[in-house]
Amino acid sequence: MSGRTLEEAAREAATCTRCRLAQGRTQVVYGVGNPDAELMFLGEAPGYHEDRQGEPFVGAAGQLLNRLLAEIGIPREDVYINNVIMCRPPNNRDPFDDELEACRPWLDERIRLIDPRVIVTLGNWATRYVLGRQVSISRVRGQRFTWNGRTVIPTFHPAAILHGGGEASSQMTALRADFQEIRRALAEAPPPAPQEQLGRA
Ligand code: URA
Repeated sequence: MSGRTLEEAAREAATCTRCRLAQGRTQVVYGVGNPDAELMFLGEAPGYHEDRQGEPFVGAAGQLLNRLLAEIGIPREDVYINNVIMCRPPNNRDPFDDELEACRPWLDERIRLIDPRVIVTLGNWATRYVLGRQVSISRVRGQRFTWNGRTVIPTFHPAAILHGGGEASSQMTALRADFQEIRRALAEAPPPAPQEQLGRA
């Protein structure tokens, strides 16, 4: 898996049969966006529309994500959007542990190749993936964590707004506040490169 480009990795992923989800999918939903993005969004798994179109976050949750991005002045094309699972689980059920494990090398590789400075985890599954433990999203949302040298900001999954309290809910207010935190994290100067830390030219 080492030394190849994102495009090459995506081409190989398109024929992945590492777990049972390969049987029911229309296609693999690898990820979309800027391959050099500073900001990565990590969701759960493709839904009906994503499975059909081959692109993450194109349904209703994706529309809300686009709107939140526009509110902080970031075009969707500038970021990278992907999920912890590349194939749609039947009836949008939660992913099983062995499916998450089967997909993990693909995501680890994507993160390594894109090398984002900030990763926003949308909802419980993505946050659990990064923090390595079961967490309550309402407790950790909006906080900054450091993971493999990257800043991680968990927040609510946009679908939680759509299926929950809607635009007027406290969750939506929190989600908007977390997007302001994302904007601030991106505006801060990146940490110095290792050679600068050692004082070399
Ligand atoms: N929900 C997700 O977590 N990912 C998608 O791509 C779409 C909906």
